Amino acid sequence: MTLPPRISHALADLRREQQEPVCAYLYDLPALRERVRDMRAALPANCELFYAAKANPEAAVLRTLAPLVDGFEAASGGELAWLRQHCPGHPLIFGGPGKLESELEAALAGDLDAFHVESLHELRRLAALARRTGQAIPLLLRLNLKLDEAPDSRLVMGGKPTPFGLDEEALDQALAVLREEPLLTLKGLHFHLLSHQLDVAAHLQLIRAYCRTFRRIAQDAQLPLTLLNVGGGMGIDYRDPHGAFDWPGFCDALHQLVAEEGMADVRLRFEIGRYIAAPCGYYAMEVLDIKRNHGEYFAIARGGTHHFRTPAAQGHDHPFVVVRGEQRAEIEEQTVTLVGQLCTPKDVLARRQPIPALAVGDLLVFTLAGAYAWNISHRDFLMHAPPRMVFLED
Ligand SMILES: Cc1ncc(COP(=O)(O)O)c(C=O)c1O
Repeated sequence: MTLPPRISHALADLRREQQEPVCAYLYDLPALRERVRDMRAALPANCELFYAAKANPEAAVLRTLAPLVDGFEAASGGELAWLRQHCPGHPLIFGGPGKLESELEAALAGDLDAFHVESLHELRRLAALARRTGQAIPLLLRLNLKLDEAPDSRLVMGGKPTPFGLDEEALDQALAVLREEPLLTLKGLHFHLLSHQLDVAAHLQLIRAYCRTFRRIAQDAQLPLTLLNVGGGMGIDYRDPHGAFDWPGFCDALHQLVAEEGMADVRLRFEIGRYIAAPCGYYAMEVLDIKRNHGEYFAIARGGTHHFRTPAAQGHDHPFVVVRGEQRAEIEEQTVTLVGQLCTPKDVLARRQPIPALAVGDLLVFTLAGAYAWNISHRDFLMHAPPRMVFLED
């Protein structure tokens, strides 16, 4: 694996400029732009691509994506306010469980494409809010489907007991509330059953099930539904960076699925996080120390899982590239465990990795670090300085 020239040059600049050892996140914004443009272009005409901001809400990332996506998904009042600040005028949806009353009110006070309703209680609270304010409230019901075959991945949010979405058994009650409340406007249904999906055929099967459920519910309840949000969840394979979800292959088959299921008149909305943002991010750590302990080599580098929790959170060895400095190699052709500066044995980014040559002062550059990385990390632990944040443009 090699680094793009833009990243290599930026790392060389950092080394030159900095007195202290390097510890930085680098974001390749032109690559992000190109990726999302290609993703959007491959989708059938009736599809929309929203970005799930929880994957990486950095303002520069959002601003890069804003002209290229159809809108953004917020999963908290904080994300919603942040999106309104940094992407004004772009369509926003507000989902997530356990919304506060103040968050519902703030969401309604500005432009909102739709609320994603997670429970009967939340629907009733929205009905009360609509009555109180006299404002119409656009919404989608999030359903936790029962499928013949439960979906399978490393992060499943539905198709089994979870806190997410309404049970189908609660649907009749939800529809009864909607019939009583003319200010609640049901635009469609929302499904997001899993993340880390690597299997295109399995995902198409899931989307087919969503389409059929959508049609059945619309028909049974005589509802003019026009919008089906099929969630996100396309996976990145951290163990094999070339094994990611095959988006072009998926989109090719999706054209056919839309035709077969008679869905061309329905808007299919994706709200994707990881698959859009992960490849644009790099986390670089300079090697501070190399030692042998109980027969194994460890490279201790500046930073750690308090900046980059992804490998610890997912339980994997994260892919990386070694950028050699000018120093003579201290070890050659050795197996090395890559760790950070925290005084916990859990601060491991990759275990027992074969490394051709390594010296103090070299850089370990972790790829696929643009999603669920810095923003999910326990950054205050041990009070180390934060990483430099570098947003690269052309
Ligand atoms: C409701 C919902 N939509 C979209 C996403 C984005 O998922 P991913 O980043 O896997 O695409 C998530 C992730 O948790 C989610 O919960």
